[in-house]
Amino acid sequence: MGTSVLTQPFPRVEGRVVCGEVPLEDLATEYGTPLYVYDLGWIRGRVAAFREAFEGAGPLLAYSVKANGNLTLLRELRALGCGADITSGGELYRAVSAGIDGSEIVFAGVGKSEAEIAFALDEGIYAFNVESRSELERIDRVATEKGMTARFGIRVNPNVLASTPHQYTATGHSETKFGVPWEETRALYRWALGRDALDPIGIDVHIGSQIVDTEPYVQALDRVLGVVTELRQEGVPLEYLDIGGGFGISYGHGPALDLESLAAQIVPRVVDAGLRLVLEPGRSLVGEAGAFLTRVQYVKSGGPKTFVIVDGGMSELIRPSHYGGYHAIEPAGPIGDREATTVDVVGPICETGDFLALDRPIPEPREGELLAVRTSGAYGFSMASNYNGRLRPAEVLVDGAEVRLVRRRETYQDLIRGEA
Ligand SMILES: Cc1ncc(COP(=O)(O)O)c(C=O)c1O
Repeated sequence: MGTSVLTQPFPRVEGRVVCGEVPLEDLATEYGTPLYVYDLGWIRGRVAAFREAFEGAGPLLAYSVKANGNLTLLRELRALGCGADITSGGELYRAVSAGIDGSEIVFAGVGKSEAEIAFALDEGIYAFNVESRSELERIDRVATEKGMTARFGIRVNPNVLASTPHQYTATGHSETKFGVPWEETRALYRWALGRDALDPIGIDVHIGSQIVDTEPYVQALDRVLGVVTELRQEGVPLEYLDIGGGFGISYGHGPALDLESLAAQIVPRVVDAGLRLVLEPGRSLVGEAGAFLTRVQYVKSGGPKTFVIVDGGMSELIRPSHYGGYHAIEPAGPIGDREATTVDVVGPICETGDFLALDRPIPEPREGELLAVRTSGAYGFSMASNYNGRLRPAEVLVDGAEVRLVRRRETYQDLIRGEA
C-alpha cells in the first residue's frame, strides 16, 4: 500500500508515527539518529497532483534540486518524469548523475561561472535562465569559443513583492539580487538576436518561496505575458515560459497554496500565448514527504525555561534559526495521556541560535525519547553542514514497507577527507 491516498503524511497508527508502513521508532533503531526519512509514496502523490493540475499546458516539471538533491530521490523523480532546475555545477552533476537528461534541465542563479556555463553547454541543457547582462555576455563568449549555441530565457524581475514567511525568501521585487530589471529586458533580448551563439527561446520569473496566495503569481505572469507579446513582434522566437517555484505547503499551521486554483488561472493564459510551461517546484514536491528524527539527550529545567536538548540541531536542520522556519514537533512513539508543556527544543551546537523550536507546547518529552520534526524533506539535509564537527546524518527512503538507506551517515574520516 502506497501512502499517496493519505491526506496527511506521517500519520499516527496505533499511537506511533509511521512513514509508509514503517514506525519511525523502528527506523531510528535501525539507522540511528539524527536521521532524515522520506516517504516516496507521498512524493509520487505530489508529482501526480502537479501533473493533473497543470496538464493542459504540457508542463516541464523541473524539480528544484536545491530543495533536496539526494541522488536516489532524483532518480525516483526522473522516473516520475521530472526534469531539474539547477543552480550550480554541483547540482548539474547531481542531476545528470541521476540520469536526468540535459534537455530537461534549466539553470538559474546569479553567479554562473565560466566553468559552470561550459559544463551546462556540454550537457545540452534546455535553457539558461539568465540573471544579468554580464552573465548573458559571458554565456555568449563561452558558447562562441565552443562553437555551440546557448538556449536561454531571461529571468525577469517583475517587481512583485509576494508575501512569504521571511524577507529572505522573497525574490521578485526590485531590491533583491535576482533577475534582470524589468526595464532592461527588451534591450537584452534585442542584443541577443544579433548574436550567433545565443538562442532566446524563453522567459522566466521566480518570485519567492513558500507563497500561499495565487495572486502574486498571476500578477507576475501577466506582466511577463505583456513583454512576450512585444518581444514576439520584434522577432524573438519564444517557446517557453517558466514561472519558477515557491509553491507554498502547510507546515502544520497556516494554509498551503491551492494548486488547482493556481493552475486554473495560469494554464489558459500560457496555452493562449502558445508557450510551453516550465514549473520549478522544490519544497512542494518533497517538503511534506520528509521527517527529521532526533532523540532527546537531556531535559534541562530549573530556570525560566525548559530546554529539551536533542541530538540534532542547526547543523542538520537550519530552517528554524536561519529564517524562522516552523516545524511541528512531537514524540514519534505513544504519547499516552501526557500533558503539553512549553519548551525550547534545542540542539547541541554552541550557538544560542541553535534551536528547532522556541516556546513550543509539546507533550512533555522524556530523556531518550524520539522526536519527529515534520515537514523536513525540503531545505533540510540540503542545507546541512559540518559546523561544530558534526557528521551529516543518514537519509532513508521508505516506499510502503520497503526501506532503503539512500545516504549513509558520515564518519569522522569523512570530516577530514581532502584536507592536507
Ligand atoms: C529559481 C528558483 N526556482 C525554484 C525554486 C524552488 O522553490 P521552492 O522550493 O519554494 O519551490 C527556488 C528556490 O529558491 C529558486 O530560487
